[in-house]
Amino acid sequence: DGFDREGIDYMFKVVMIGDSGVGKSQLLNRFVRNDFHMKSKATIGVEFLTKTVLMDHKLVKAQIWDTAGQERYQAITTAYYRGATGALLAYDITNRHSFNHIEKWLDELHHHADKNIVVMLVGNKSDLSSIRQVSIEEAEDLAKQKGLFFIETSALDSNNVEPAFLGLLSQIY
Ligand code: GTP
Ligand code: MG
Repeated sequence: DGFDREGIDYMFKVVMIGDSGVGKSQLLNRFVRNDFHMKSKATIGVEFLTKTVLMDHKLVKAQIWDTAGQERYQAITTAYYRGATGALLAYDITNRHSFNHIEKWLDELHHHADKNIVVMLVGNKSDLSSIRQVSIEEAEDLAKQKGLFFIETSALDSNNVEPAFLGLLSQIY
């Protein structure tokens, strides 16, 4: 299953989902490599990165899967979600459409993922707060209504990126 179990206490599979361009790949790039690319290309196919973190004196290895938000590249479904215990569902706070599509992504999870999957709703690009189209309050309301955790992040300036991933992992753990 691709896991190297040496010294690892727990292993979790997490999937990144959300519309194209919201910053899924750059959130992952920031979390795993502390790197960011302004000229990030749209993801084609499926990739995963792993990161091991220490939680409660336990080594937790996260295998984080990333795929295309663009519908025409979506060859995902069953295999992508199989075994996932967490999902990071991202939208772009400057793009109302990406927020309106949250319901669609929750349906997708409902159909393909384990019913106990933990979901972290992430409003990305908080560095662009001056041109936001989605308020923190309405995102909090949606998260509350749907039973999701919620945080705003910026892959560009690193704001809240670690808390988003570590918060998700700690809820799984
Ligand atoms: P797909 O792979 O097509 O599904 O898109 P994605 O969600 O992986 O988006 P990606 O990470 O490729 O980022 C899309 C664009 O948004 C790129 O130009 C990134 O540089 C930019 N971007 C990502 N995160 C941020 C952020 O936090 N702030 C700002 N200002 N730009 C960001
Ligand atoms: Mg991508």
